[in-house]
Formats: sequence, C-alpha cells, structure tokens
Amino acid sequence: MKTLMIYGATGYTGRMAAEHAKAQGLNVVIAGRNAERLASLAVQLDVPYRVFTADANAAQALEGISVLLNFAGPFAKTAEALMQACIQAGVDYLDITAEINVYRLAERLGAQAIEAGVMLLPGVGWDVVPTDCLAMHVARRLQNPQSLRVALQVAGSMSRGSAMSVSEIIGAGLLARVDGQLVATPDAQPRHFDFGDGPALCAPLSFGDLVTGWHSTGIANIAMFVHISGDAFPEGDLSQLPDGPSTEQREVHRARAVGEVTGADGSVARSVIETVNGYSYTPMAAVEAARRVLAGERRAGFETPARVFGMGFAETIAGTTITDY
Ligand SMILES: NC(=O)c1ccc[n+]([C@@H]2O[C@H](COP(=O)([O-])OP(=O)(O)OC[C@H]3O[C@@H](n4cnc5c(N)ncnc54)[C@H](OP(=O)(O)O)[C@@H]3O)[C@@H](O)[C@H]2O)c1
Repeated sequence: MKTLMIYGATGYTGRMAAEHAKAQGLNVVIAGRNAERLASLAVQLDVPYRVFTADANAAQALEGISVLLNFAGPFAKTAEALMQACIQAGVDYLDITAEINVYRLAERLGAQAIEAGVMLLPGVGWDVVPTDCLAMHVARRLQNPQSLRVALQVAGSMSRGSAMSVSEIIGAGLLARVDGQLVATPDAQPRHFDFGDGPALCAPLSFGDLVTGWHSTGIANIAMFVHISGDAFPEGDLSQLPDGPSTEQREVHRARAVGEVTGADGSVARSVIETVNGYSYTPMAAVEAARRVLAGERRAGFETPARVFGMGFAETIAGTTITDY
C-alpha cells in the first residue's frame, strides 16, 4: 500500500487532515519540525512520524513516501524546499497554500518536475479547489470566454496560519492576468459581486486562481476579489494566536465564491459555489486529493485540481453546490 506523508501535521489544519486520512484508512506518516508535538500526535493517531525541517536535506526524509501533503504555512517558508525534495526523491507534492507566489514557484518548477516524473499540485484546500472547478464550470457556459473574475466570500474568524499567510498574499502586490501575463495592477478598484443575497463590495487581491484559472480554463484575462465579512484582522504577534475556529464556529459560516465570465460577444455567465466552512472543507478536499493521487490520478509537472481530477471534484466534498445565474 502506498504511503502518504502529512507535513505540518501538528498545526490546526494539518491535524484535522491527519485524523481524516487515518479515518479514511490511508497509510499515513505524519511529519514536521517539532519532535515533541509529533510524538504525542503519533500516539493519539497510532501512526508513525518523522521529524525534519523544510531545507536542502529534506529529500532524505522521503524514503518510501509516494505523496507529500504539505500543511506547513506560511508556505513561502516551506514550499520551495519541499517541492525540490519531492523532485529529487520522486514524490508527488500537494499543499493547501493560498499564497500566489507558491503557485508561481510550482509553475516555474514544472519542467523539472516533468523530467523527474513528479506532480506539483498546490492548492488542494478551499483555496483553490472550489474556485478552480467553478472557473472551469462557468467558462464552459459561454462559446468564446474572454475574461474571468473570481470573488471569494470569507466569513468568520481566521486561523493562526491563515493570518500569518495574509502578509504573504498582500506582500505579493495587486496582480491580474492580462493577455496571458501576470501584471501589477496597483490601481485595481473594488467591485460588487452577488454571492446570492445582493451586491457585496469586494476588494481586489491576488490569489492562486490568477495562475490556476489560466491553466484550467485557458482564459487569458483574470482578476480576483475578496469580500471579508468576518472578525477584524488579528493584531500583535500572530504566531501566538490560538487555533482556528471550533467545530461549532465553523458550522455557523459557510463559504461562497462567484465566478463570472464574459464572452467575445459581451455576454456574461455567472455561477456561485457554496461549500461548508473553508476550514472544514480544506482537510476533506486535501485528503481526497491525496487519496486520488495515491490511486494513480496524477500527471507529471505543475497541475491544477480541476485539470487532474475534473471540474466535478469540488462537488464531491459533502455540502457543496453550484448555482448558475
Ligand atoms: N487553502 C485553504 O483554504 C487553507 C485553509 C486552512 C489553512 N490554510 C493555510 O495552511 C497553513 C496552516 O494554517 P493553520 O491554521 O493550520 O496553521 P498552524 O495551526 O499555525 O499550523 C502550522 C503548521 O505548520 C508548521 N510550520 C510552520 N512554519 C514551519 C516551518 N518554517 N517549517 C516547518 N514547519 C512549519 C507548524 O509547525 P510547529 O507546530 O512546529 O509550529 C504547524 O504544524 C496557512 O498557511 C494557511 O493559510 C489554507
């Protein structure tokens, strides 16, 4: 039986995924940098563990592993070393990043990955599984799609890891895809999107769909927006924040995204995807993605969830619906 490694398993999201993977009967090894926390979690889950840092020696720790699923964010600090280690060791790499620069990195390493026969598949969490599948879905509703806009609606409180990753997302600057190229758009303006209960003002922000949407749909003009209706952004030392929302808090807030495509004749198609809370969706989608890759649904090189698993993948996660307008 092939083995899945969950790196960053001691974090809020990684732990939920490790529990879920074990419950699904996958052959799991948990891993990360903190021996004490890993040893304790390994006993609770009755799984083996490996301790190593995300650095140039990481490939040595991947003996016998088929798929590495990375939950150790901010991914700006872990993704490059772990992608390189996977390429070296012949292991497929998956993560749950929302940081656009990690998608750009995976895209850049795509040719090396093809040569090594390895898949690099970032974004198997709420970012970007629902929006990647939604983009492909809405693009197919028009004859000649020319531009794509995606808006995310994020409600409820953020996890510690997400708060720490936000600075990476903002730090990447405002970007859009224009005629196939990623370009800086410092003057991008907010826009209204309707998630199902009237227009909501959304701010421009650079998410991974600027990369994945281009590969999944071939649409050369893409812009991203976000509507944040949750708690105020936390202040102070973000690494000291408590874990993310509890099960009860997650149940209060579902998550939604709008995909809007304009065709060559000016016609517009709009679809909305609604899922369980992003922090509930992410471990389920990530483990299901890993299960499929272990079972052979894979292709060497940089990939997107909708391309590898099909545009119906997002809806295989319980509680997900797409509505066309
Ligand atoms: N795609 C999505 O929709 C989605 C959903 C949820 C989370 N996320 C992302 O997932 C990441 C984790 O979030 P979280 O709330 O689970 O965070 P968390 O509870 O703080 O957990 C972070 C985990 O990563 C490990 N880690 C952090 N930096 C590391 C480094 N430099 N080297 C090795 N391990 C490191 C931590 O190890 P220690 O225990 O040793 O500190 C911990 O296991 C964030 O980037 C977040 O944005 C994405």
